[in-house]
Amino acid sequence: MRATGAEPSLYSVIFLIPVVVLVGVIGYWASRRSTSRSIGDPGVEANARLTSYAAMVLLLPLAADVVTGARPGLQAHALLGFFLVPPVLLKLGSVGYRFARYYSRDPRYRAGGPPDLAMRLLGPVLVLLTVTLFATGIELWLFGFAFGNEWLIWHKASFVLWFLAMTVHVAAYARRAPALALADSRDRRNGAFERRSLVVGSLLFGVALVVTMLPFSSPFTLLPDVG
Ligand code: HEM
Repeated sequence: MRATGAEPSLYSVIFLIPVVVLVGVIGYWASRRSTSRSIGDPGVEANARLTSYAAMVLLLPLAADVVTGARPGLQAHALLGFFLVPPVLLKLGSVGYRFARYYSRDPRYRAGGPPDLAMRLLGPVLVLLTVTLFATGIELWLFGFAFGNEWLIWHKASFVLWFLAMTVHVAAYARRAPALALADSRDRRNGAFERRSLVVGSLLFGVALVVTMLPFSSPFTLLPDVG
């Protein structure tokens, strides 16, 4: 998520394409294993449905934030970032709940099994990169370079790694996420309304954050060569 006005160079785009294709293939390979995994327990299934709901609503605004980060016009990029914070926290909360139940030896979550090895290894990396990406972006928008311009380097570096990790993650779950998210509208299992309300609530909270941040004039946009 470049913060300078210049578009990414043609060379970096040409270099990135095979890398993205490669990580996409890795993700597809992982998807062939994760899609078939059955869950069984209704509580564990409900958690997977909430995770996938949050995932599906994240896709479009995340993609828009990547695009606005690579082009001039940072306010849209920053406001989209603020909009994304609550749904991303909901996603992390849902997978964090499963993680905690699994490692606190809840028999139902143990029976549901951990994510497949590739996704199990990628999970913590993706969480760390997501937190770094959002934290550095928010710091830059609130304080500009008041605490040094290293934050910009961290923001860009974490973006490149995050983008590659997310490509694997989305490719791996491209079939499972919509299947789980749509399952609720098909069988209306217990808690479907609550799951939907949580996701809608996180989006409304995102809109409220954007409205709050709209009047804020970021010191970052006053820096030469940005905005
Ligand atoms: C900031 C964005 C995101 C972060 C930080 C994130 C992180 C995670 C983590 C840590 C897990 C648990 C480990 C695992 O099961 O692989 C997970 C699970 C999952 N994610 Fe994401 N994810 C994000 C976005 C997405 C998106 C855009 C999709 C859409 C395809 C997605 C689909 C899924 C699915 C289907 C699961 C497994 C649900 C289950 O079986 O319980 N995620 N995510």
